[in-house]
Amino acid sequence: MTAVGNISHVPVMTAEVLQHLRPERGGVFVDCTVGLGGHARALLEAGATRVIGLDRDRDALAHARDTLAPWGDRVELVHADYRAIVDVLDSRRIAGIDGALADLGVSSLQFDAPGRGFSFQRDEPLDMRMDRATGETAADLVARSTERELADAIFQYGEERFSRRIARALVAARREAPVDTTGRLAAIVRRAIPRRGPMRPMRIDPATRTFQALRIWVNRELEGLDRFLEAAARRLRAGARLVVITFHSLEDRIVKHTLRALEHGDEALVKVLTKKPLVPGEDEVQRNPRARSAKLRAAERLG
Ligand SMILES: C[S@@+](CC[C@H](N)C(=O)[O-])C[C@H]1O[C@@H](n2cnc3c(N)ncnc32)[C@H](O)[C@@H]1O
Repeated sequence: MTAVGNISHVPVMTAEVLQHLRPERGGVFVDCTVGLGGHARALLEAGATRVIGLDRDRDALAHARDTLAPWGDRVELVHADYRAIVDVLDSRRIAGIDGALADLGVSSLQFDAPGRGFSFQRDEPLDMRMDRATGETAADLVARSTERELADAIFQYGEERFSRRIARALVAARREAPVDTTGRLAAIVRRAIPRRGPMRPMRIDPATRTFQALRIWVNRELEGLDRFLEAAARRLRAGARLVVITFHSLEDRIVKHTLRALEHGDEALVKVLTKKPLVPGEDEVQRNPRARSAKLRAAERLG
């Protein structure tokens, strides 16, 4: 476990990650989403010779730096989007790697630390950018998008059936005052969604899907995921593996289809090792509720 102030991050499905990546054989591993460094540490402890950790969030890299300090120059942390993996490796003259990991989505640091705007548990500025140095915030998107664009994004990225109502409510609300805090956004969404039958408690907070949608939209989380997976797979040495962990179905679908296409394309680049995604065991979910929706897929580079 990595402790960050009062935030602790337990990496998800670590045993399965190690089992597939087999770092005990040594070699260069790329952790494409190093986050707080939990998985990277496990790779190093298990025998990886060198880990290159990428993250687009500078706060995460600062924490990973602390966590991974004991491994000195066996670790290199890079502020980069994983979609730039080819440039990162080329600039270090690394042609082939011995394994790659992508643990997609938001870290507990981003979600739980105050001031990032990812969560409706706290009222704070509606930011949601993983990389705070660039791009529009969620508040910017809500302010400048058309009702149609808002509805489409909330439907597509949040799989929210009340997307049109929510978009209409957002457009009406922003005429009165900017929708620039998590609290105001959550309140507008909750009001816009019809209550289910009397006495029927909702399973999740009605704002959850809209928050997910905006986060994915702000960070363009699905764009180029397929190209990244192919680029990572092409850099693996023969027999080396790529492991991907996702936390929602939109992302898992892209990973599943991309790995399948790489397996069955003209080139047959990889063999998929997980016909069905692996999910965490009950014990892990009990210990770490964040693991609940995780799905792990792995592929091995063919020779
Ligand atoms: C679930 S966390 C990873 C946690 C990490 N495995 C650990 O053990 O601490 C996901 C991380 O991916 C990063 N991330 C998300 N999209 C990214 C992208 N396109 N490029 C680089 N990093 C990204 C986030 O900033 C976040 O820190």
